[in-house]
Amino acid sequence: MIIVAVDGPSASGKSTVSRRAAQALGFVYVDSGAVYRGVTWKCVKEGVDVKDAQAVTNLLIRMNMELVLKDQAVGYLIDGEDPGQEIRAEPVRERVADIAAQQSVRVYIVEKLRLMTKFGSLVMEGRDIGTVVFPDTPYKYYLDADPEERARRRAAEIRQTEGAGDVNEVLSSLRRRDQKDSSRATAPLQIALGAKIINSTGMSIDQVVDTIVSDLKKAGVVS
Ligand code: CDP
Repeated sequence: MIIVAVDGPSASGKSTVSRRAAQALGFVYVDSGAVYRGVTWKCVKEGVDVKDAQAVTNLLIRMNMELVLKDQAVGYLIDGEDPGQEIRAEPVRERVADIAAQQSVRVYIVEKLRLMTKFGSLVMEGRDIGTVVFPDTPYKYYLDADPEERARRRAAEIRQTEGAGDVNEVLSSLRRRDQKDSSRATAPLQIALGAKIINSTGMSIDQVVDTIVSDLKKAGVVS
């Protein structure tokens, strides 16, 4: 059982890189941010205020999240429902950092993420995978890119799904979220001890994937 932890800020390329690295390694891919987004989606759906700790805790107690393996990636059903692309839309995007700052949510999700090892070796991406979720794994990467580059990438993504995406608006929204993620009391975004830092500004996705896969090959993780 091998865990590859990939952490980093929003739009640093983690998702694409981690998914491809998992494919290349024959491991299962986990987007931990999608789990935080799923809980946020449920709050929006139920009209729960994401800043109300008690209301959020009550929601976690009454809801059921079932983990499922689909296309070599771990997904989930919340009370039997797959939220699909709704987790990427604006109502979730603007609230997810507040949900991720709730202590009860972190405890709940970290436990779910650890349970995912039942599906096999994992490439898991997030903010605290190497620091909190799997601190003992020797295979940790911290992916970064300049804020402007990250905003350009995210704006292009948003244009694809929503038709419009202004780079400057995206840049300020990313900065707001980075600020919340790095400054929160519980599990802030940090570079894990022993993590290899990759700054992907100016690198192609393939180059980043290659960097990680070759490094793991060198370490003897895969042949
Ligand atoms: O897509 P993007 O990289 O912007 O975000 P994401 O990976 O989908 O994560 C959404 C939010 O969930 C982040 O802004 C964090 O607040 C939170 N998160 C976290 O706190 N810990 C993780 N391991 C993953 C995500």
